[in-house]
Amino acid sequence: MKDDRIRIFDTTLRDGEQCPGASMNSREKLEIARQLARLGVDIIEAGFPVVSEGDFASVQQIAREVRGPIICGLARCVPKDIEAAGNAIKPAGKRGRIHVFLGTSKLHREFKLGKVQDEILRLAVDGVQRAKAFVDDVEFSPEDASRTELDFLVQVVEAAIAAGATTINMPDTTGYATPAEYGRMFRHVIERAKGAKKVIFSAHCHDDLGLAVANALAAVENGARQVEGTINGIGERAGNTALEEFVMALRTRRDFFRGLDTGLKAREIVKTSRLVSQMCSFPVPRNKAIVGANAFAHGSGIHQDGILKKRETYEIMDPKDVGWGVTELPLTKHSGRAAVAARLKHLGFKMTGPDVNAIFTRFKEIGDKKKFVYDDDLTALVEGQIAEVPETWSLDYLNVTSGNQTVPTATVRLKKAGAKPEVVQDAGIGDGPVDAALKAIDRLTKTRGRLMDYSLRAVSQGKDALGEVTVKADFGDGELITGKGASTDVIEASARAYLNAVNRFLGNHGGRKAKPARP
Ligand code: KIV
Ligand code: ZN
Repeated sequence: MKDDRIRIFDTTLRDGEQCPGASMNSREKLEIARQLARLGVDIIEAGFPVVSEGDFASVQQIAREVRGPIICGLARCVPKDIEAAGNAIKPAGKRGRIHVFLGTSKLHREFKLGKVQDEILRLAVDGVQRAKAFVDDVEFSPEDASRTELDFLVQVVEAAIAAGATTINMPDTTGYATPAEYGRMFRHVIERAKGAKKVIFSAHCHDDLGLAVANALAAVENGARQVEGTINGIGERAGNTALEEFVMALRTRRDFFRGLDTGLKAREIVKTSRLVSQMCSFPVPRNKAIVGANAFAHGSGIHQDGILKKRETYEIMDPKDVGWGVTELPLTKHSGRAAVAARLKHLGFKMTGPDVNAIFTRFKEIGDKKKFVYDDDLTALVEGQIAEVPETWSLDYLNVTSGNQTVPTATVRLKKAGAKPEVVQDAGIGDGPVDAALKAIDRLTKTRGRLMDYSLRAVSQGKDALGEVTVKADFGDGELITGKGASTDVIEASARAYLNAVNRFLGNHGGRKAKPARP
């Protein structure tokens, strides 16, 4: 039977989360997983359960609560990893998959693992067989496949198939391959490995040379029927194959790819991209294909004229097909709790009563300051609510004076929660109003953060747009802690973001566990 269907394996929550600065809490991961199910991905790699109790619990929760896609957990070919993955995905029942991986290239064998080829073959077989004891659906990845000797790659793949692997993923772990070469590797292995017809071959590419999407396309031209990637292309180092780009390349150039297609509901792409960007505090560059703000913006007069005459003159896709321009009526300060709750539900968030109440309180504060509250504003409020940060300190009052002839001064009043709630106040001067406010917060909370990164973005349109500030601060132990805050006033948003990072630091402090290295 001719198989033209490409399975989409989303690893936003695993490889995507390995992107420095993009870590998410379990609630954020759950919201993303639910949206990935609406997007229609076939497999969600929900995490790497052995890494920490948090990762295990998050994979387990997704396996329990997200319906539709296959839920996959990653494991090295190590018994404790496989056991953790098998237990975490158990609630998904027949929709559970274990993905085992093992370095196979000479570099990995000699320098990382210290093993010869025969030992690698044995470990691969053992890993697949152990995983088979938990589930039927087992994926095997010879890590660094694209730099593995072809003959040995064929041997490992054959051994993994014989041991029961149902999907063989051949990753370009370091983003080293070129499209022609990566495509040839698939053709070679599929033609030579015994049992190749029984399994699905998968491509997993990294973008170190900017070739991740091109390589994935070359793989499917040469027989791969599963593609792994992430939303917005986030991931280790330069990232992974951006799924939205891969899917739209196949669809837009159906003529070239002779009907190969995925089951993705492309109209959900923009919504998913925004959610991921929001939840992992990773802005989408304006010029990013498909999901960047400029992806369908036409600057030149000649282009604008052409578009008005016939859209196709300068547009190869209809922006509506990927979910642009689907705007809902915005809410206003007159909207009631029920309207806000209904919009949250429509946006796909499953909120408890207390969550809705807290969001509604912030919604009212914002509704007083701006005319319309858009879906993106609401999403920013949801993000603040589900950040799972114990609110040790909250902002009660902020007043700043600044100007070109004034020393910037901030007066900050904070409330401290706990057995003995207290209200404390201080004033500080600084190099600017944000600096002054942050210095006052440091003194009041007795912390000392070094601001390593600061970004401000307008969440929605208009002069009264909600400004969302993301900060990354180092509180002395070298770890970058992210904080986020939103307000129509950017100084207030900055203070809220910094306070969010302080609370996160205080919440983590002492209880932080070292995580094993990720692949
Ligand atoms: O890039 C890689 O090789 C991986 C494996 C775990 C599949 O992410
Ligand atoms: Zn990877």
